[in-house]
Order: sequence, then C-alpha cells, then structure tokens
Amino acid sequence: MKKIIDLKDLLKHEILDLYSAEEQIIEGLPVMIAQANNPKLKEALSNHLEVTKTHKDRLDKIKESIMAKSEEESNGFFSSLFGGSHTVTSIGVEGLLKEAKKLMAEEMTQEAMDAAIIGAAQKIEHYEIAAYGTARAYASELNMDLVRIELDKTLGEEYEADDSLTKLAVGQVNPVAENAVNAEDQEDSNDEVYDRLTNSVSIMSSSDNVDDEE
Ligand SMILES: [Fe+2]
Repeated sequence: MKKIIDLKDLLKHEILDLYSAEEQIIEGLPVMIAQANNPKLKEALSNHLEVTKTHKDRLDKIKESIMAKSEEESNGFFSSLFGGSHTVTSIGVEGLLKEAKKLMAEEMTQEAMDAAIIGAAQKIEHYEIAAYGTARAYASELNMDLVRIELDKTLGEEYEADDSLTKLAVGQVNPVAENAVNAEDQEDSNDEVYDRLTNSVSIMSSSDNVDDEE
C-alpha cells in the first residue's frame, strides 16, 4: 500500500475501512435478527439491515467521486487504490461482531438474549458513528462537498438507528430482562406448588376418612 501522507490519503483509508465495516455488518446482522426474540427488535434490526445496504451503495458513490477528483488532479493515488485489488479490513467491526457471536453463544434466557443483542448492536453503531464522524470532518476540511454530504446522510441514519435501539432497550427490552425467570426454576417452583397442593388434598382426604371411621 502506498504511504499515507496527507488528510486526503487518510480519508481514503477511512472510506475503505467503512466499506469493509458495512460489508461485515450486512453479513452479521441476519445472525442477530435470527437470535432476537422480541418482534420490535427483529423489526428494528431488519430495517437497519436494509439501511446498511444503502450505506454501502453510498460509499461506492463516494469512492467514485474521490476517484474522479483525483483524476482531475492527475494524482492517480485514489484511482489506483480504489480501482485495484487493494482492500482494507475493518478489524474493529470484525472484533465487535466476534464478540457479539461469542455472547450470543452463551446459555441465556430469551429476555436476556434480546438485551444482549441490543448492547452488541449498539457497540457496532458507536464504532460507525465515530468512523463516519471522522471521515466527514476530513471531507469538510478538504472541501469535498459531495463526499461530506453523503457521509453526513449516513451519519444521521446511524444516530437514528442508535437512538431507536436505546428507546427499545430502556422502554421495553431491559425491564423485561430485569424480570426474566429461568424456565427450569419456574418448572421446579410449579412442581413444588403442585406437590404442596396434592399433599394438602391427600391430608384432607385422609382426615375425611378418619371422620368417616368415627
Ligand atoms: Fe451503517
């Protein structure tokens, strides 16, 4: 990879990192949707999957715009990179998705699972918010208006997704998880109640017999 010299080189690097992030999220979200139980959570994550696909398309548009600008300046740096086989892997999102998978593999009640999924999804959102915010600041400094506007649209949608997950967590999923009961314990306590009831019935019927005998 060519040496990163200035802010424009860094912007290019951020765009490639974000592209990898969005690609990995498109692959990872269906697993989280499948594991989610709360219908509103499933819906929110499914909506975000569709939005994420538009984020990836927007990054394609951004890459083209940066490439065109570089051609104009006959720099060739961006075109050789974006047009070539060079790729950047977002290690950050790779790690966050691995962490999410590890957490979802734990034995958990459905209620705790939903809360865990929101937490994992928001960690990824926060990574994206930081990365898009940084890229937008670079584009703004470089007077790349089209790039800045496109990055800004995505950044706004990432904030919206994060806010809707917070509302869902605080308003519904976390309180439900707070009162979650282990299904096995619930069965045990049901058995205990049943045993107590049968015992008292048999005591009553045996005392009836005593009365009968008298
Ligand atoms: Fe995104």
